[in-house]
Amino acid sequence: MTFMELARNRYSERHFDSRPIEDEKLQMILEAGRIAPTACNYQPQHIYVLKSPAALEKACITKASLYSCPLALLVCYDSKTVWKNPGDRCYELYNAGEQDASIVAASMMFEAEEQGIHSLWIRGFDSRTVMDTFDLPANHIPVMMLALGYPGEDSHPAHLHSKRKSLDETVTVL
Ligand SMILES: Cc1cc2nc3c(=O)[nH]c(=O)nc-3n(C[C@H](O)[C@H](O)[C@H](O)COP(=O)(O)O)c2cc1C
Repeated sequence: MTFMELARNRYSERHFDSRPIEDEKLQMILEAGRIAPTACNYQPQHIYVLKSPAALEKACITKASLYSCPLALLVCYDSKTVWKNPGDRCYELYNAGEQDASIVAASMMFEAEEQGIHSLWIRGFDSRTVMDTFDLPANHIPVMMLALGYPGEDSHPAHLHSKRKSLDETVTVL
């Protein structure tokens, strides 16, 4: 499958099968995140694998809707090791953590897709609640959760999946 086919085929999964994800596939998914680019190659990402029923239950307590996925990844960045642009006049406000964590997460999302595993990108949670519930160190800043699993019988793209703006609306050639 080409990358374009993979990208076109992917959609947000909200009907997961309960079948567990094989360890080899999970390792491949994590590896895709490991080799993702990060600002200045600082690699500030930290990924919590929510695998046990207790961990998945905790994620639900945080109001992150996981749609009964058998496994989820909580992707954080480490605020102690993240790159900050010394030339940025907003140096204290800005760091690359969200971008680093996002490209790590996107790489894992597409690798999962290649493995036949569907995913859902989740940001609908309160960061403080996630930090408290999982007892994260203060420097681990949660960015997103990636729910993972095989598609269930009712799997289908939601209506928003087919709604994409045209390139004319989102691209300006200067
Ligand atoms: C940054 C981000 C945050 C998202 N947060 C959530 C979320 O909390 N819950 C959810 O059900 N979907 C969430 N989504 C999924 C989007 O709703 C979905 O990607 C979008 O509607 C397009 O649909 P598609 O992924 O099927 O193409 C999120 C996606 C992104 C990129």
